[in-house]
Amino acid sequence: MILVTGATGTVGREVLRRLPARPPVRVMAREPGRVTGAAPTAEKVAGDYRDPGALARALAGVTTAFLVTTDVGGDDDARFLRAARTAGVRRVVKLSAAAVLDPGADDLITRWQRANEDLLRDSGMEWTLLRPRSFMSNTLSWAASVRSEGVVRALYGTSANACVDPRDLAEVAARVLTEDGHAGQAYTLTGPRAITPAEQTDQLGRLLGVPLRFEELTPEQARVALGARCPAPVVEALLHSAERQRAGAKAQVTDTVGEVTGRPAGSFQAWAKDHVEAFAHVP
Ligand SMILES: NC(=O)c1ccc[n+]([C@@H]2O[C@H](COP(=O)([O-])OP(=O)(O)OC[C@H]3O[C@@H](n4cnc5c(N)ncnc54)[C@H](OP(=O)(O)O)[C@@H]3O)[C@@H](O)[C@H]2O)c1
Repeated sequence: MILVTGATGTVGREVLRRLPARPPVRVMAREPGRVTGAAPTAEKVAGDYRDPGALARALAGVTTAFLVTTDVGGDDDARFLRAARTAGVRRVVKLSAAAVLDPGADDLITRWQRANEDLLRDSGMEWTLLRPRSFMSNTLSWAASVRSEGVVRALYGTSANACVDPRDLAEVAARVLTEDGHAGQAYTLTGPRAITPAEQTDQLGRLLGVPLRFEELTPEQARVALGARCPAPVVEALLHSAERQRAGAKAQVTDTVGEVTGRPAGSFQAWAKDHVEAFAHVP
């Protein structure tokens, strides 16, 4: 039995779409009714990392688990791993982040992911770590201003990021969850080339058939904008991360998606083509 967490999120819901009917799949979500894309045979159960009883029920009979956590600085990984070990889970595949390998990355989010990785490696269970670069889907945060004003506002327009299509992450995760040979591996996952926010703006504009304007935010403007949706310590971590991008730390490309899935990683152009409606002005 494979357990999928984070199944209403960006990567988890794509993982669900890619898992075969066998071995059986169980989906854990705080609100199972919000889970879409699972095979009809998949079992949906309610579960929250903060609820030990529900976690134990969700993990009973599970051999392999896909773990997604998002509460930066919190101990959801520790709770999940304790419950998984008690339940006799054999292997955990964890969604981590490429930044854990960056020597200059000492922000709150990266320190939290490094600590989570250590917990998993020390858990006694088999482990596989997926370490993606930024998700291409992060550009959906530009959709509102693109739709209403034809403008993208972001930091450091000429800084490159080897961002990755979350569907490629999901394909890698589905393989790792269902194939042998991935235990003890850490995969750094990127797109096929590094691309800048200004280039992404240009590509989106071409797909939409309208020229878009790129307005570079100052760090202070970005702090205010990010502060509307994230707690202050996370905002500071994201600003630190953007600064590393400006310094070139996120431009390196790997071929790991190709090596694991047998086909090359998708481009930002391809991701944007499939999501262009989210950016389109509805008259
Ligand atoms: N975005 C990036 O560029 C990027 C880059 C590298 C690494 N990452 C890593 O990727 C991970 C995020 O993946 P994502 O974007 O797919 O996630 P996401 O879209 O933010 O979704 C988070 C998922 O976690 C579930 N969840 C949250 N709190 C929970 C709890 N207490 N108990 C049970 N489930 C809970 C949510 O379920 P509900 O439906 O219940 O809310 C949701 O399904 C993070 O670890 C992040 O560090 C992201």
